Amino acid sequence: MEWTREARYRGLASISNDIFEAMKDQVNQSPWRQHYHIQPVTGLLNDPNGFIYFKGKYHLFYQWFPLGPVHGLKYWYHVESEDLIHFENKGPVIYPDTTYDSHGAYSGSSIQIDHHLYVFYTGNHRTKAWERIPNQMVAKLNDDIEVVAKQPIIEGVPQGYTEHFRDPKVWQEDEHYYFVIGAQTTEQTGRALIYQGDTSLNFHLLGEIDTGLSEFGYMWECPDLFKLDDKDVLIFCPQGIEPDGIHFQNIYQSGYIIGDFSLETLEMKHDGFMELDHGFDFYAPQTTLSKEGERVLIGWMGLPDINYPTDQYDWAHCLTLPRVLNIKDDTLIQKVHPDVEKLRVCSYEAICEVNQDSTMIDLIHPERSEVDISIVENEADELSVVFSNQSDEAVKISYEKYTGALMLDRSQSGTLPSNQDNQTRTVKLNQPLQSLRIFIDTSSMEIFINEGTHVMTTRLFPKAPYEHCMFSASGNVKIKTKQYELKRG
Ligand code: FRU
Repeated sequence: MEWTREARYRGLASISNDIFEAMKDQVNQSPWRQHYHIQPVTGLLNDPNGFIYFKGKYHLFYQWFPLGPVHGLKYWYHVESEDLIHFENKGPVIYPDTTYDSHGAYSGSSIQIDHHLYVFYTGNHRTKAWERIPNQMVAKLNDDIEVVAKQPIIEGVPQGYTEHFRDPKVWQEDEHYYFVIGAQTTEQTGRALIYQGDTSLNFHLLGEIDTGLSEFGYMWECPDLFKLDDKDVLIFCPQGIEPDGIHFQNIYQSGYIIGDFSLETLEMKHDGFMELDHGFDFYAPQTTLSKEGERVLIGWMGLPDINYPTDQYDWAHCLTLPRVLNIKDDTLIQKVHPDVEKLRVCSYEAICEVNQDSTMIDLIHPERSEVDISIVENEADELSVVFSNQSDEAVKISYEKYTGALMLDRSQSGTLPSNQDNQTRTVKLNQPLQSLRIFIDTSSMEIFINEGTHVMTTRLFPKAPYEHCMFSASGNVKIKTKQYELKRG
């Protein structure tokens, strides 16, 4: 089907419930459906939104276009869970059903105020001339997570900024509410702005965060500002950064700066922008506090402006596993949240000695497994781990000890997403490779390197699941593997 503008801006009301149910069934039968990741019931999923622990449950929403694998009229689809892994599909909650959000209920965040859940988001309105007017909205939800009221709190954009003004991330501090929001200046540079609000939710602009990054892309999407381990962290997604060696290889970037932020001066001192994930498919993450008080991040395992192989089956994308954030040596450490371990059903341990020959192990479960690899001894300059299937498709992770470079190569992995020439991604490790913790689902791999010091996330679309894992090295290496079969989630 051709996705004309008209087709993209049709909503759920344009189809009957029977058709919607039939679309769900069809999507569910398609190949590459994930087993334990959050994925759209139909159509396209993008950013995680409104992530919060509220009255005993985690609530998470995703940007959703129900009718096909394209970016169109966006809703917020709700999933909930008592932990961070067994999410249940609940249905759409924020509908683009007022003039303010007529062309999409865009990204935003949640906050609890006096026992109630409030959602801050960007209402995307287009005029007849297709001019975009962003409105910042607040919706009040009841305990059944239904909207009871919604209204704009900021209409349009402040002077000096363009229509690209969206994605409020809200928090409370010292009797005030604040939100950070992504913006583009009229000089076409990306910025994050801070608004302050009183208890009646009247907000005014405090100004731009002074990061010193004055020419760093043309738009910053999905900012998130929080305290972590006595530091301030600003996550944002700059668009328009040129690739630079092994850095900034994806179409748009997602990263962070760490330092000290002052709400008085709006200055954020930091040591530079770092990428959050060194794989192919990661964007627009959002954080919240877990019930234990940890800072947890979930990202979109996809990127805008790229066609993915599942498009032909009328669905696209999924979310990443939840990651716990901490700071060590001024960088973010990202570890899989322990709730994910609840998926483990059985385990298998092996010790492999690799020298000039390769050593192969079978995966405990080809479509849903966790493979933990510890490098006990490494005398080799080069070491590789290759996951392969019967169709000779393979994903390769290779490590060079003398440069510290770890490369992920998906060029032979199966069907590939469009618009990406380079099918390798490389990260320079700051310590020798000691461990890889790899989560495999039907169409993704999340690779946590050296206890979460670096992460590489990738979608994969093989003809058949990868069944084997082969280790090869240019010298003696001793490797311990522990595998877990994972439940469906
Ligand atoms: C990021 C983004 C946001 C916007 C949303 C629309 O992927 O472009 O800036 O709010 O997606 O779906």
